[in-house]
Amino acid sequence: MNPLPKHAILRSYVRESPEIQESRKLEDYRMIRSRIIGTGSYLPEKVLTNHDLEKLTDTNDEWIRQRTGIEQRHVVAEGEGTSDLGARAALRAIESAGIKPSDIDLVVCSTMTPDYVFPSASCLIQHKIGAHHAAAVDVQAACTGFIYGLSVTDAFIRAGIYKTILLVGADIMSNRLIWENRDTAVLFGDGAGAVVVRGEKSPHGVLSTFLAADGGHLDMFYVPSGGSKNILRPETIAKMDLSIIMKGRELFKKAVSSFSEAAQKALEATGMSIEDVDLIVPHQANTRIIYSFSDKLGVPREKVFVNIQKVGNTVAATIPIALDDAVRAGSLKQGNIALLLAFGAGLTWGSAMVRW
Ligand code: UT7
Repeated sequence: MNPLPKHAILRSYVRESPEIQESRKLEDYRMIRSRIIGTGSYLPEKVLTNHDLEKLTDTNDEWIRQRTGIEQRHVVAEGEGTSDLGARAALRAIESAGIKPSDIDLVVCSTMTPDYVFPSASCLIQHKIGAHHAAAVDVQAACTGFIYGLSVTDAFIRAGIYKTILLVGADIMSNRLIWENRDTAVLFGDGAGAVVVRGEKSPHGVLSTFLAADGGHLDMFYVPSGGSKNILRPETIAKMDLSIIMKGRELFKKAVSSFSEAAQKALEATGMSIEDVDLIVPHQANTRIIYSFSDKLGVPREKVFVNIQKVGNTVAATIPIALDDAVRAGSLKQGNIALLLAFGAGLTWGSAMVRW
């Protein structure tokens, strides 16, 4: 999938004259782009440190830090749902964008853990924030959910269907984890991030998106029960069929190669080189995955945004939480080029290049 006109791809092969470069700048201003005009995030109050986890499962702080980079994660209180986190992050994004909830045309929520089997989390968020004029839809692409959601958002905006879209990434994993299963228990956290995206004639905004999927690896990362194939019944709960099945080492390798492919696609689509990128904002699954990829590319570590130490893997929320942190920390400023990368269950993977 390549949303850019052919000239953008040719840019990497053709040396352009100053006149052509100038006309391209003008063309950039005439093009409707999906510009991120506000960010927000929300983490539940309760913090679970690695030392807390030592009391729940056979693990230790040193192993978790060394193998994953995680030091703590946030977990929801009883009764808190994905839409509650999503709505709080959304209101912060709306405030930072300086718009009103009633300005929103569409709410997109990327999640693999909606509050209910149905309706969608996006509908609940729409109601909770008072975005009464907005349509609402969920996108399910596991940890790649935010990139898929951004691509859907970008397509709606560039097609001229909607002008202002709220995109939320939110997931709650803590109440699905089986604490005895230490391979997954230590990885995940709960949280939500949100962005407000507006169509503007501007050189700023989403420059490219790349989406990929390979459904042939179900057993690498999935939950066997709870869906329509193995509906929840007391006897399946007793067999602990709710465990998350994850082949950690295989996923690790797949993640590194997926990041490389997704980054390459973004560079090809925009005609940029990796040196043009100011900040890489990757899905936060494991610092070793992130740095294996970025070190191989020769990217200095200060150009790679990492906040997994304080939040863990929050699934579809990792990238919007990281974007909000990066903006508020001054690591992502207007005009910067950001490369967003994700991979996850499905398998799914993808990238987006954004001029902030
Ligand atoms: O968003 C997608 C979600 N999933 C992922 O991204 C997962 C990707 N994979 C990973 O991040 C890593 O593979 C893990 C963090 C899951 C595991 O790290 P690893 O370096 O691949 O460890 P391993 O599975 O090869 O296990 C190494 C050792 C084993 O012990 P022995 O056989 O060497 O004695 C494990 O039993 O570490 C042991 N181990 C643990 N020890 C303490 C595994 N989990 C734990 C634990 N605490 N939580």
